[in-house]
Amino acid sequence: MNTLLAPFTLSDNLSLTNRIVMAPMTRSMATDALVPTQEMAEYYARRAETGLIITEATIVAPLAQGYPNTPGLFSEEQVAGWKVVTDRVHERGGKIFAQIWHCGRVSHPVYLGGELPVAPSAVALSGRVPRTDGIQYGTPRAMTESDITAVIDAFALAAANARRAGFDGVEIHGANGYLVDQFLHWETNQRTDAWGGSPENMSRFVLDVINAVKNEIEHVGIRLTPVGYLHMAENPKDKAVFDYLLQQLNTCGLSYVHTGSEDDRVFNYIEGSMTQYIRRLYKSTVIASGSYTPERAVTMMENGDADLVAIGRPLIANPDYVGKIQAGLPLTPYHNAMLNQLV
Ligand SMILES: Cc1cc2nc3c(=O)[nH]c(=O)nc-3n(C[C@H](O)[C@H](O)[C@H](O)COP(=O)(O)O)c2cc1C
Repeated sequence: MNTLLAPFTLSDNLSLTNRIVMAPMTRSMATDALVPTQEMAEYYARRAETGLIITEATIVAPLAQGYPNTPGLFSEEQVAGWKVVTDRVHERGGKIFAQIWHCGRVSHPVYLGGELPVAPSAVALSGRVPRTDGIQYGTPRAMTESDITAVIDAFALAAANARRAGFDGVEIHGANGYLVDQFLHWETNQRTDAWGGSPENMSRFVLDVINAVKNEIEHVGIRLTPVGYLHMAENPKDKAVFDYLLQQLNTCGLSYVHTGSEDDRVFNYIEGSMTQYIRRLYKSTVIASGSYTPERAVTMMENGDADLVAIGRPLIANPDYVGKIQAGLPLTPYHNAMLNQLV
């Protein structure tokens, strides 16, 4: 386990005590004003022994919401709430990034004060909105040029707020079929202007978001799921978009690229796992994630597939995950019922 417990330098002025990252996990436990609570501060502080905590996805603007009680980073009250969280994590020697998020079409007017969700194109999402009485997703409104500018500005403001709230950095949520990812896939991006129609144009939105966010906070990572296809139909043409984007990311000065949640699968057309594909094209720090046991994580790192591993559900079941690994103690298995409480 020494491989997992070895320190890691994320950048000149950001060192991690080990290579275990807490994966971002939505818990829907913020207040109705989408403010983080003291209970959330204690939940994160209990996991401060991980090398880096990435918070649950945190919305960048009111119209970014898609689930109940997900925290935000756009009001002063939210900044103050997050400051309590980051202080508690820092007191315990931890490092913490905020995952900043816009749901795009994975939302419904019930969360948006009656307004339609926005997306690159007006392409309907089918399926039931979670935690509702059978409400169905619908067709979003295609973003205008000024909507796009406003959302990029909202990401920048959330990053500035994250800095003021004491975060060590931010992770842009570019995965799992949410707004940033919607620009990167042919099913959801059918634009014929500068924001669609080619890998270069489809990557423009995320590259502009990265640029705007980097102007506000030093350490910026991104989470991507090139073949994740959550909330999205598969299209083999998508690979060319990620081939282009991942190479562009080499010159963006990112802290890392983080795989989304499917590393227990190998895909023929990317010749390996999602992490191996990212590793081939992106030449700096990579975080793997998805169903990793400590043993599999060690093998994956010793293969050179990634530098860090993000652990999700096992960290819900084991707040003392790092201590247990250090002491060689067995891990408590995760159950979905554990999501009902912030332990
Ligand atoms: C309850 C829950 C909430 C999640 N919320 C997020 C999220 O807010 N942002 C995100 O990028 N991934 C989210 N994920 C995916 C996790 O970050 C992680 O990739 C996934 O759980 C696979 O890792 P694991 O097998 O170690 O749990 C969530 C997963 C779970 C179980």
